[in-house]
Amino acid sequence: MTVVRSVVLGCGAYLPERVLTNAELAAKVDTSDEWIVQRTGIRERHIAAEGEYTSHLATKAAQAALANAGVDAQSIDLIVLATSTPDHTFPATATQVQAALGIHHGVAFDIQAVCSGFVFAVATADNFLRGGSAKRALVIGAETFSRILDWNDRGTCVLFGDGAGAIVLEAQEGWGTSADRGVLTTHLRSDGAHKHKLYVDGGPSTTQTTGHLRMEGREVFKHAVGMITGVIVDAFNASGTSADNVDWFVPHQANKRIIDASAQKLHIAPQKVVMTVDRHGNTSAASIPLALATAVADGRIQKGHLVLLEAMGGGFTWGAALLRW
Ligand code: ACO
Repeated sequence: MTVVRSVVLGCGAYLPERVLTNAELAAKVDTSDEWIVQRTGIRERHIAAEGEYTSHLATKAAQAALANAGVDAQSIDLIVLATSTPDHTFPATATQVQAALGIHHGVAFDIQAVCSGFVFAVATADNFLRGGSAKRALVIGAETFSRILDWNDRGTCVLFGDGAGAIVLEAQEGWGTSADRGVLTTHLRSDGAHKHKLYVDGGPSTTQTTGHLRMEGREVFKHAVGMITGVIVDAFNASGTSADNVDWFVPHQANKRIIDASAQKLHIAPQKVVMTVDRHGNTSAASIPLALATAVADGRIQKGHLVLLEAMGGGFTWGAALLRW
């Protein structure tokens, strides 16, 4: 019996021009390149220019993904954009990307699951495609976290960066086995009891301001590896696969220590881990598609490879997706 699979046709990314190094940060707040690299693996991050918004980054990433897929924007009937830094409180940034691409049919909306946003967006688009309500989707992660950082707080401002990445997914027929191309399984979780460990201290309904990111870093770290590996094991069990079958582990790029510890716990060899946190910092919902685009562009990820995605972020939210490229 055949099933519908959401198959990746292409991917792309965009990073703002401006690169902010650890040395530059050390001139502004009481930190050092050594401290940041040792604790996080981050060496530099990109920062959006004045007047450059999340929708602009997202549109450029979407255009790159469409070009990589070799399909026209007019063939897209669903845009799911993951972001916690929308251009405006409303309308959804996805609708502005839709307009910038000249698309007037179908539907575009945002997903808000902070750093897990891209995995949530993949799961959402996959359900729309498998359910038959769309045929070809753009799934985008785009952020301008530089706009919600407290640049006087050395505990958070050194960690994040701006950027965007996107993939094109198409509904195709598969056999219903783990040998199929496309999204094989997705697993999403959340637990709002952890709100105060990672949140933004403003919003339209509370303060009528945008607010700044606040984080109890050690608390986040404590929960991260267990939550990430737990949901990945769920993905392996649901798809009848194991860590041995994974060709590429493309985790949310929050921190090298979290990524290393997760891979080690799952027995995934370091050479199978795609790591971009050194050059991008934590770009929240954009980090996974940015890493995917990097590994596709340099020839590591190829058609038929089994790719494991995972993320954890504010809420807490967390999730994993397993797909065959
Ligand atoms: N430079 C120098 N010193 C610093 C800096 C900095 N940038 N930031 C904090 N410190 C100091 C602290 O003030 C503290 O000093 P004290 O001992 O005198 O009080 C000391 O360093 C240790 O601080 P901790 O917060 O305990 O440092 P820790 O080893 O936990 O590292 C870090 C902090 C890197 C944030 C770590 O906890 C972490 O990576 N947590 C995960 C959080 C994360 O990645 N969040 C991203 C969003 S969620 C997600 O995407 C998964």
